[in-house]
Parts: sequence; structure tokens; C-alpha cells
Amino acid sequence: MTPLPLPFTAPWLLAPMEGVTEPCFRDLVLERNPAAALGGAYTEFVRVVDLPLPRRVLREHLGPRRFETPVGIQLMGADIGALAETARRAVEVGSPLVDLNFGCPAKGALRGCAGSALLKEPAKLEAIVRACVAVVTTVPVTAKIRAGFDDAVLLEDLAHAAAAGGASLLTVHCRTRAEGYQELVDWSRIARAVAAVAIPVCGNGGVDTHADLERMRRETGCDYVMVGRAALGDPWIFQGARVSSAEAALFLVDYARALMESGNAREKGAAARVKQLLRHWTAGALFDHDRARWLGEPEPRALLAHLARAAGVESAWDSVVETTERAAGG
Ligand SMILES: Cc1cc2nc3c(=O)[nH]c(=O)nc-3n(C[C@H](O)[C@H](O)[C@H](O)COP(=O)(O)O)c2cc1C
Repeated sequence: MTPLPLPFTAPWLLAPMEGVTEPCFRDLVLERNPAAALGGAYTEFVRVVDLPLPRRVLREHLGPRRFETPVGIQLMGADIGALAETARRAVEVGSPLVDLNFGCPAKGALRGCAGSALLKEPAKLEAIVRACVAVVTTVPVTAKIRAGFDDAVLLEDLAHAAAAGGASLLTVHCRTRAEGYQELVDWSRIARAVAAVAIPVCGNGGVDTHADLERMRRETGCDYVMVGRAALGDPWIFQGARVSSAEAALFLVDYARALMESGNAREKGAAARVKQLLRHWTAGALFDHDRARWLGEPEPRALLAHLARAAGVESAWDSVVETTERAAGG
């Protein structure tokens, strides 16, 4: 079984993040980063329970737009048959790769014996990868693990399992499930995975700056590096560009606009999602002095208007609010 070539256009990848890397946010990141800087991205995880998902759901996760940078669908589940058939359908609807999630620490995933629950069962992990690879013959199947469940003792076994199942890439989030999202990270675990398998490894966990991307590759020998939360605070991290405060504010305004125009959120929901990014935000020195004040703004319209002012698009924003609220019957 020869792993298929990966479609990535550069070594830096945007991590799958539930509730964040849906098409509205993801497309803005893809728009602002050339394919030479951002090599690939993923949908948030798509949960498969005991039935294959309809193609419509998979299409919604991919979104309407396509970029030179590939965006793969990530699936999470434990029912091998349902997962494999969903993986096949993901390719049918145009996913250029299929990623399998073996890291989600959420209680819902654990109850369903999916996500990080599979870190205790390398043999089952291998069987899932193998079943998906057997039906997905034209694009690569990739696997994303954490370093382990309670500790990193099984890391090599898990890496071997993914490779033996036929994964074309192994992404290692270097924290264990028990470590959650703690700040302290141990990149030597990524180096252990690199040493254990012959397939390419993507390192993940604790990248804070553009310089960290190259540093992780150098220190661990991994081929690709995946960025999660730092990309929420600086969508330009992949190219290391410093943007003005107006450009930074415009990203947030465009995000709110995309959420409202797609019908995914009204003004209140859009402002809440913008605040989620603001908690991480570092780009454009936008909030050096008054992040707390912006985060504490209770009025969604006032927060979004502040941002539109900072972006220099205040009058255009007023008409966005009017049109979307009218369309939503508000
Ligand atoms: C809000 C949020 C949602 C996430 N959702 C997913 C997901 O859907 N699939 C997945 O494999 N990992 C998910 N993760 C984990 C990230 O992909 C990544 O592995 C983790 O954040 C570590 O990278 P970082 O230290 O660069 O943030 C999520 C993380 C966050 C913060």
C-alpha cells in the first residue's frame, strides 16, 4: 500500500477547529494567504455516528468557494462502516483529502468511543484508517492524533497504527488528551513520531508565531506544521506578514458580514463569534490598549460599529446590517 501524494501547496497548515473553521472564517484566511504560504486547511470535524452522512452535509462543510490551497474534510467517529462510506462520499463531493480525527477530547466524542477515545486502541485506529483507505482510492487519507490519552506511552504504537492502516500523513498534536490545551508543550513527542514512521508527519501544538513554524520543523524533523489558536489571533501567521490595524479590523468586519450574509448568524451571533477571535487576537496591534473594553462591550451593534470604524468601512457596514436584518425579517 503506497501512500498517495499530498495536495498541500506549502508546509504550513490551518488546523481543523470546531465552531471556527467553518467556511466563513476559513475562506477569509484562505483569501488572505497565498497558496505558497498556507498549504492546506481542514473543515471542523464532521461527526459520523452509525449512518453515513448525506452528501449535502459534506458539501456544506466544504462551502461554496474553492482556492488553490486544498481544504480537506475531517471526519470523526467509531463506526467503521459508516465512516468509510462517509469518507467515500466526501471524495465524491470534491474533498481533495480525508482526515480522520483521533484527538477530540470532548465528552460527546468519548461517549461515542470516537475522537481521543481511540488513542487507547491502536488496533481499532488502524482498522478505521484501513477501511477508509480501502474505499478512498483517489485522494490521500490522513490521520490526526494527540500524543496519547493519559500519557504519551502509546505514541509510537499509534503512529505505527496510522501508517500501517495506510494513512498518507500523520498529524501529531503533541498534548495528550489529559493535557487538554495547556500552555506547556513537549515537541520531542513530535520528533518521536517522526522517528517511528516513514510517512510524512505534521507537527501541531503550541505554535505562537510565524518563527515557531520553521522552529518546529527544525527541532522535530516534521514535514508539515499545523497552526490552531494562533491563527485565530493572527490569520496572517502563515506568511508572517505584519498588517495594519485597519486591515486587521477589516478581517473581523468581513467575518461578521460573511456570517450574517450566509444566514449563519444575526448581528448578536456574529458579534459573539467576533469576540471569540478577539480573545486570541494579536494581528495589527488592534487592541494593544483597549482589548478588555472591546471584549466587555455588551452591545453587539456597538462592537461591530467600533470595528467598522477602525477598518474605515463604517458606512458600508451600516448597509450590511440593514440588508441582512431586513432579509432575516428583523
Ligand atoms: C476551538 C477549537 C476547536 C477544535 N476543533 C478541532 C476539530 O474539530 N478537529 C480536530 O482535529 N482538532 C480540533 N481542535 C484541536 C486543534 O486542531 C489543534 O490540534 C489544537 O488547538 C492544538 O494546536 P494549537 O496549540 O496550535 O492551538 C480544536 C481546537 C480548538 C481550540
